[in-house]
Amino acid sequence: MTSAAPTEIKPASCAFVIFGATGDLTHRLVIPSLYNLAAAGLLPDRFCVVGIVRRGMSNDALRDSLMQGLKRFATRPVEDAIAERLLECVTAIEADPKQPESFDGLKDKLERLESTRNTGGNRLFYLATPPDAFAPIARELGRVGLLQEQDGAWRRMVVEKPFGTDLASAKALNEELLKLLTEHQIYRIDHYLGKETVQNILVLRFANGIFEPIWNRNHIDHVQITVDEKLGVGHRGSFYDKTGALRDMVPNHLFQLLSLVAMEPPIRFDAHSVRSEKADVLSAIQIQSEADALKNSVRGQYTGGRIGDAEIVDYRSTEEVSPDSTTETYAALKLAIDNWRWAGVPFYLRTGKALGAKRTEVAIKFKQAPFAMFACTAVTRLSQNYLVIGIEPTQGITLQFNTKVPGPAITIDGVEMKFQYKDYFNAEPSTGYETLIYDCMIGDNILFQRADGVEAGWKAVEPFLDAWKNAGATGLEHYQAGSEGPQAAVDLLKRDGRSWRKF
Ligand code: BG6
Repeated sequence: MTSAAPTEIKPASCAFVIFGATGDLTHRLVIPSLYNLAAAGLLPDRFCVVGIVRRGMSNDALRDSLMQGLKRFATRPVEDAIAERLLECVTAIEADPKQPESFDGLKDKLERLESTRNTGGNRLFYLATPPDAFAPIARELGRVGLLQEQDGAWRRMVVEKPFGTDLASAKALNEELLKLLTEHQIYRIDHYLGKETVQNILVLRFANGIFEPIWNRNHIDHVQITVDEKLGVGHRGSFYDKTGALRDMVPNHLFQLLSLVAMEPPIRFDAHSVRSEKADVLSAIQIQSEADALKNSVRGQYTGGRIGDAEIVDYRSTEEVSPDSTTETYAALKLAIDNWRWAGVPFYLRTGKALGAKRTEVAIKFKQAPFAMFACTAVTRLSQNYLVIGIEPTQGITLQFNTKVPGPAITIDGVEMKFQYKDYFNAEPSTGYETLIYDCMIGDNILFQRADGVEAGWKAVEPFLDAWKNAGATGLEHYQAGSEGPQAAVDLLKRDGRSWRKF
């Protein structure tokens, strides 16, 4: 086993201001991540957490609630001393973007707290709120002068997803934020970039001499990106019915995977170079006409079924979902990237809810070896060569290739060479947000989305959104919860003489 080298440095002192401090995300991810950073000695020496609350919530009430959340969602046993030290840093301050004058009070209280805690004026504003609050909060923070960088102190803003609901709204939000902050101050979160296996795609491709020379249309037949989920929509009906699988997953999570797999090698491992290459490849995705988008996509909606012991109700009977909803809970797309590396190599993407298994992977399918040489033997077919980047549940890399089965006759079988993280590295279980939060504090934007990348992503999915909206119920497939998704997704590849990789 190899342990990760402790190369990290402590971030500079700062105030960590959370909007949405009483919400689910703060309890489930933000505080448990801060706890893990505290346990690893990676929080600043002088640090304070400000929880923005509605009127009347005391420090103690907020701390109690966060402690309960921590106990419930921590990824490792909670040590009282560390938790208490962290929660002792928490202060509740009232502010509400619906009452702009409350931000004047926030400014005074925050500045007083910063001077007591001696945090030096560095501030991170974390917007863990519903998306319609992002712009109003930023506007108010700007109005009272809290975003202005001065005297060497930095001001940063973390924006959770979803970042817009289409190209126009993403552009409008970028415009609003960029009036108040420079791009470097904005950290647009996509939690997929917090996953080790996703970050490793860059290292796999560019720190090894063996992959890059064959990573192109001369050797790769096509790429499959799968994000299958077992969970249904559960209690998120109201959000999900307005959103659907495509908006919820594709321009963000699946496109992060796609851009890391398909980007050109950046000149340097820094935020500017990496994000420029990612944005470039996303903008090279061919923009399809609505008619082509319909031909090159499948959308499905789950009907009731069983997944393990759980009974999943029909999507349309889910709480806060319209009974005649045409929102997709499954999406499969065929995309083309129009550049020299990828022209002619289809990228097939699929994602869905309430499927039989949770599975996230990128499968690179290499061109088939010619069969002619074996035609005179008893071999009837060759297995396919895949390089599989496993993200869930298996975290690792698998190479599938053909091998001679021992024995006098020529018999060939497909085998796998497998690397699994757990066999080599002894990482502490984490939420996946630690690196992201740490990077915001040290000012490294490499794992965050830049405005042009977000907009390029929305631009590529827009024809599908429009085509599906205009088609209404026509073309919406149904699949049973617990199944592998609609048959039409199988047919999408079949008509190209291909198939999804079998798990
Ligand atoms: C979120 C989506 O962004 O990602 C959810 O809103 C989805 O609907 C989740 O379930 C998937 O994340 P992961 O890390 O479990 O693949």
